[in-house]
Amino acid sequence: MTTPLLEVRNLKKSFPLFSGLFRKQTGEIVAVDDVSFTLQPGQVLGIVGESGSGKSTVARVAIRLIEPTEGESFFEGRSLFSMNKKELRQIRKEIQIVFQDPFSSLNPRKNIRENMGEALFYHGIVSTLDEQAERVAQTLMQVGLSPDVMMRYPHEFSGGQQQRICIGRAIILRPKLIICDEAVSALDVSIQAQILNLLLDLKERLNLGYLFISHDLSVIRHLSDHIIVMKEGKVVESAETNELFESPQHAYTKALLGAIPKLRVRK
Ligand SMILES: Nc1ncnc2c1ncn2[C@@H]1O[C@H](COP(=O)(O)OP(=O)(O)O)[C@@H](O)[C@H]1O
Ligand SMILES: [Mg+2]
Repeated sequence: MTTPLLEVRNLKKSFPLFSGLFRKQTGEIVAVDDVSFTLQPGQVLGIVGESGSGKSTVARVAIRLIEPTEGESFFEGRSLFSMNKKELRQIRKEIQIVFQDPFSSLNPRKNIRENMGEALFYHGIVSTLDEQAERVAQTLMQVGLSPDVMMRYPHEFSGGQQQRICIGRAIILRPKLIICDEAVSALDVSIQAQILNLLLDLKERLNLGYLFISHDLSVIRHLSDHIIVMKEGKVVESAETNELFESPQHAYTKALLGAIPKLRVRK
């Protein structure tokens, strides 16, 4: 049996609720409530659910960007919640995130080479500017952009191109896991399909695992091997992708399946 890439057990996250003049804590929001899942290497786990259902929080807690309230999470069999700072730092380059809004996740005052290649120095992967430029050039080609764009700035690109740059910044460290949190949700439908195809290609070529988060089942469907459906912090359904679409069990899943537009994406 292979060791899962990411395994999450009974994860719970609550946030304190404050109110009144003195901001007294008056309660708590349970954003993630007893969530478990397993992601195998090279596979895609889709997480779907409406806005506020806890998708982003579950991902952020799972990789310990925020601290858990309860539960366990293992990256390649190693407990993320018992790692110290140094161990966590080493694992950071193995796990990357692509967010919904590419422009706001790029630094507008830095050119593409700096935006994509900065972490290469931080993690000691390159030690000279030439090495950095070389690696950025290779990566730009992998995401379908010309190496010539390296000296340009984020605002000079379209949304789809900016998202390619963000994907490049994620893969440049050769991670094993990428979290795509609504990564195509802000893009036009025609551009969405191109980015989804790019993600599929990269997954095959680089043997990546994705935690693919979206409120949109039609987007999730084309990439995911397995899907979990979240509602109010809980997993209400968990199934292989085909199974979920052929025989959804939960009323909420059926409602989500209700009227989804078809995206044209090659499989
Ligand atoms: N830092 C935070 N402080 C307080 N509440 C939060 C925080 N982050 C998320 N929440 C709440 O947790 C719930 C789940 O949010 P989120 O994980 O962002 O959902 P989704 O990604 O599915 O839209 C929401 O009710 C949200 O308001
Ligand atoms: Mg979210």
